[in-house]
Amino acid sequence: MTAVELLEGLATTRAIRRYRDEPIPDDDLATILFAATRAPTGSNRQNFRFLALTDGPLAGEAKSLLGTSFRAGWNAKRSSDGYGWGSGIDDDSPKARMARSMQHFVDHFERTPVVILPCIRSRHHSLIDGASIYPACQNLLLAARALGYGGVLTGWHKPVEAELRDLLGIPDEIEVAATIPLGKPVGHHGPVRRRPLAELVFDDRWGRAAPWAVDPEGTRFTSAGPPGQTDRGDLTGSQGHDRRR
Ligand SMILES: Cc1cc2nc3c(=O)[nH]c(=O)nc-3n(C[C@H](O)[C@H](O)[C@H](O)COP(=O)(O)O)c2cc1C
Repeated sequence: MTAVELLEGLATTRAIRRYRDEPIPDDDLATILFAATRAPTGSNRQNFRFLALTDGPLAGEAKSLLGTSFRAGWNAKRSSDGYGWGSGIDDDSPKARMARSMQHFVDHFERTPVVILPCIRSRHHSLIDGASIYPACQNLLLAARALGYGGVLTGWHKPVEAELRDLLGIPDEIEVAATIPLGKPVGHHGPVRRRPLAELVFDDRWGRAAPWAVDPEGTRFTSAGPPGQTDRGDLTGSQGHDRRR
């Protein structure tokens, strides 16, 4: 893969929540997990492990446990983030589209072709532990994208983590860092939308504009985010605001 293809992949790997009813062949799954495990860990300890739930009986039970938890997670988020309010009542708004996609995602969770549980043996019980597992998660999603699959990093397994441990024999000292459903996307990845670089990058000191931080021509933006975040450091946003440069 050339650098340009890699950058293109980085800029087009979106959260994918609708999957076709097709399994992921073993060799593709192996390629995806190979890429995941090329990610760095502190001192190259490789204290990560990846549990792949495909189509076995345990996988079915785990997906069903997760499905219940995901539906509860989305229900709570839908009301706390006001998906039924404001622009959410307009069927064509990004907020309403997101809500439909989420609903479909959780309603069909049990049919997800593959669910990956990225796990980590925590050493510090702090943010730094995440640095030895989340790069691998992103590698995994990028590799999936390269092969025509899609997925999303989620945290809605947390309420059932104890039951998952019992069911799947995950040792106590191992933490399930995320749940990543994977499959062939229904539809397209589309461009990733974020805030303009000028809002996200500072030069030399906090808050100072970086004149060189210019987005590529044609970049599309969003300030989407849950309500109630603080405005300090421009960490706020209303749902689904969408602009083109
Ligand atoms: C730390 C983290 C936690 C996330 N948790 C969830 C989740 O529980 N459920 C979900 O559907 N998406 C979850 N996501 C996916 C984000 O909502 C998604 O990446 C974000 O909205 C950007 O979407 P985009 O990449 O399509 O632009 C999570 C992402 C991250 C990085």
